[in-house]
Amino acid sequence: MTDIGNIDQQATRSIDDDQSGLAEAGILPSDLADADALLDITYYAKHRHTVKAYDPARKIPADKIEKVKDLLRYSPSSTNLQPWYFVLAASEEGKERVAKSTDRLYPFNRNSIVNASHVVVFASRLEVGEDFLQRVLEQEEKDGRFDADPETFRAQMHGGRSMFVNLHKQDMKDVQHWMDKQVYLNIGQFLLGVAALGIDATPMEGIETKLIDEEFGLREKGYASLAVVALGYSDEKADYNAKIPKSRLPFSDILTEV
Ligand SMILES: Cc1cc2nc3c(=O)[nH]c(=O)nc-3n(C[C@H](O)[C@H](O)[C@H](O)COP(=O)(O)O)c2cc1C
Repeated sequence: MTDIGNIDQQATRSIDDDQSGLAEAGILPSDLADADALLDITYYAKHRHTVKAYDPARKIPADKIEKVKDLLRYSPSSTNLQPWYFVLAASEEGKERVAKSTDRLYPFNRNSIVNASHVVVFASRLEVGEDFLQRVLEQEEKDGRFDADPETFRAQMHGGRSMFVNLHKQDMKDVQHWMDKQVYLNIGQFLLGVAALGIDATPMEGIETKLIDEEFGLREKGYASLAVVALGYSDEKADYNAKIPKSRLPFSDILTEV
């Protein structure tokens, strides 16, 4: 993503304003030379990579961090349940608190956390009860979702969401797993989203989640951590994964088209 990282400031501004002249000015890479290509998310899917070494001197600008936070908040989830909670660490002290969770079993992940610009902890709800369902409903009402017919739409939404929650609680007995899946969906969107913002990232399950939960009191808040995503800018020289080709199974192994 380094190529995009170098041009992302100009490129992002240009999506909002005017695309013309960017290729001529050498701001965009040749395969991103027009607006359609710039908005083609497959470019970012193919060009992002998991960073193995960050440049500790490069920090993500504050305005971009606001967009990073928007990505966390605007992810879709089944029935709009939003069963997640995040910790965003930007200070050295904050990142060190996250990094402690790597020391015993996953020391190879420590540097990706402490040398990153920012680190996000993704946590999932431990329970879903009527109080939380009402909280989501109240927000939807506040955001104008039910304006056309408040009583009917509010009741319909609550009924539908409760049906799914009860299905996972009582029939499938996988409500925790179901909520975890929503958080992973958020992580997927997040990885692609930050790439499109010109930010490099490292998703990590190599953390002791229990230690993170204790460090940030997550279980007391009703959540348990699942994964961490470090954010920043790759150190081109030290980051071996920036230099080697991406590898994926071919379509013949993974896709049936009918
Ligand atoms: C859920 C998840 C957990 C991962 N955990 C780690 C990790 O603990 N440490 C690490 O360096 N990379 C981790 N990775 C990165 C994967 O190894 C990487 O995404 C995969 O090899 C594909 O490479 P790419 O991301 O460069 O395309 C993780 C990726 C995902 C999606």
